[in-house]
Amino acid sequence: MPITSLIRSFANRHPQLKSVLRTLASPFRRSVSGQYRPLPPGEAEAVSTELANAWQAPSIPEAQRKGVDAALAAYRSGQEVRNFDVLVDLLRPILPQAGLATLLEVGCSSGYHGEAFAIKSLPVEYRGCDFSPAFIDLARRLHPDFAFLVADACALPEPDGSIDIVLSGCCILHVADYEKAIAEAARVARHHVVFHRTPVLHQSKTRRFTKMAYGVKTLEIHFNEEELIHLMRRHGLAVSAVVTLDASWQDGDAVATKTYLCEKVTQ
Ligand SMILES: C[S@@+](CC[C@H](N)C(=O)[O-])C[C@H]1O[C@@H](n2cnc3c(N)ncnc32)[C@H](O)[C@@H]1O
Repeated sequence: MPITSLIRSFANRHPQLKSVLRTLASPFRRSVSGQYRPLPPGEAEAVSTELANAWQAPSIPEAQRKGVDAALAAYRSGQEVRNFDVLVDLLRPILPQAGLATLLEVGCSSGYHGEAFAIKSLPVEYRGCDFSPAFIDLARRLHPDFAFLVADACALPEPDGSIDIVLSGCCILHVADYEKAIAEAARVARHHVVFHRTPVLHQSKTRRFTKMAYGVKTLEIHFNEEELIHLMRRHGLAVSAVVTLDASWQDGDAVATKTYLCEKVTQ
């Protein structure tokens, strides 16, 4: 029996536990995103253009934040939140013993990773950018101590090599020109780039889907992993650690969500 079915059946027999599990998983649950529809190759370009700005919908930030607040409250009280812990555990060994590393999150939404890092006292000077003005308004309201700006992942305003660590926060999967977004993250980073929560395929070619996220139709790309790693390498990034957050068998391939820590290398 798959692990998710086991958890579900156990939780159904323990209603109090069920509500705790719901809270912990809420910002990342499939119910906030779903209805995947594969995009036939002939439609990929037109639909990608049509959906390029979908994540800028003003309705998304408050809807996403409800789940995020629950996860942050759990994290503050010492509970594990896997999507936060993965980042904290990857970042801690590369952070300085003294002083702060600069970290820019691209696709930061409402900036909640800044708070997660503060909860764990990570020595980072966190800042975030997102191409959605509504997300950045909310981020500035909720986290006035962090710097935020509206910027597109494909055209970051920072100079070359100016940020110690660039965190691409579950973002390139929504960007039709994902090679440009990878190139920009690599250009701006001084030492490292992290690609968080990236869906990859192990045998199939890269696939494009439409999916509903918080009630809005969006584009989502599942990358052939070899292609993705090749693109990282082309832009001077070498993968130095990988964490698999989940994996399943879909349409004849092993589909996984992974977080990649990359080191900037001289080409
Ligand atoms: C799934 S959310 C990820 C939020 C958070 N970084 C995380 O890892 O949980 C994707 C975010 O990427 C942003 N985004 C999508 N396309 C973008 C682009 N071209 N440039 C900048 N941000 C973008 C969306 O507005 C959204 O806030």
